Amino acid sequence: SRSLNIAVIPGDGIGQEVVAQGLKVLSAALPQDVKLETTEYDLGAQRWHRTGETLPDAELEALKGHDAILLGAIGDPSVPSGVLERGLLLKLRFAFDHYVNLRPSKLFPNTATPLAGSPEIDFVVVREGTEGPYTGNGGSLRTGTPAEVATEVSLNTAYGVERVVRDAYERADSRPRKKLTLVHKNNVLVYAGHLWKNVFDAVGKEYPEVTTDYLHVDAATIFFVTQPERFDVIVTDNLFGDILTDLAAAVTGGIGLAASGNINPTGAFPSMFEPVHGSAPDIAGTGKADPTATILSVALLLRHLGFDAEAVRIEEAVSADLAGRDGAFRTTEEIGDALAVRVAG
Ligand code: IPM
Ligand code: MN
Repeated sequence: SRSLNIAVIPGDGIGQEVVAQGLKVLSAALPQDVKLETTEYDLGAQRWHRTGETLPDAELEALKGHDAILLGAIGDPSVPSGVLERGLLLKLRFAFDHYVNLRPSKLFPNTATPLAGSPEIDFVVVREGTEGPYTGNGGSLRTGTPAEVATEVSLNTAYGVERVVRDAYERADSRPRKKLTLVHKNNVLVYAGHLWKNVFDAVGKEYPEVTTDYLHVDAATIFFVTQPERFDVIVTDNLFGDILTDLAAAVTGGIGLAASGNINPTGAFPSMFEPVHGSAPDIAGTGKADPTATILSVALLLRHLGFDAEAVRIEEAVSADLAGRDGAFRTTEEIGDALAVRVAG
């Protein structure tokens, strides 16, 4: 019999609550002959307060042994900004070479969108995950003085750009519409912009069936709101992708539904799946958190590990559940239970 060995990092705030529902649905979705083993890792704000540690080497090493990682949320107002983000979340993405940050956006039936006319939205952002302005390649001079100077250099390598662009072409090629849009800002960020556009055009020659398009990131934000149906697959750098995917979540029913995968397509390291939302400390413990984003992240996890049919079952369950929502309040657990029942059924 097969087994699935998942590392679980609930993290902070609502992380615990949503991850519990994610695991519930994961168990319900797996075939009978697959044994689910989970190991919980105590990482996040509480651990930092207790020990001063964010992600010790021993844990990093242990995490490598899992098939995948399910993460809830990281961040707490009691911890200085950047400590857990850099020391834990980004450290995991970099250490495990999660160069594809996959963020699908779909407007499910009966889902509130601020956009007029219920447009068809079904696109996926392939956000680069290991480079750009996220590498910590910067510094500060005369810090705290009126003459302070700060740099935060965006790092882009041909190797790093090519591998993520190629992944995006593969995804576009396998979708019905076969369309790939590069989003950058090459009218101002000319050096990185040149590298991205050159690689995008060169790799594109290998995918003659994929229609391509280029948009500056500012223009892309307009089209996310006025014409989201024009997008199929989008490839973009780490920071543009961060910003665009929050906007994408906002127009497709909110951050409570947005799933993501931090993927190492080579399989050299475990990939990590997490809701796009944060730890929401203001509603932690109230049962108000929507676990759907985590549950959809579980679907991405399953698809990544080859359980395609099970992933589809979860996505269909979410779709049916959303279609049936009548606006009545349901707790985190009630939503998780309802989805587990649908998935198992
Ligand atoms: C996200 C988050 C992170 C990011 C932060 C918490 C470091 O905003 O996953 O989108 O910027 O990538
Ligand atoms: Mn973000």
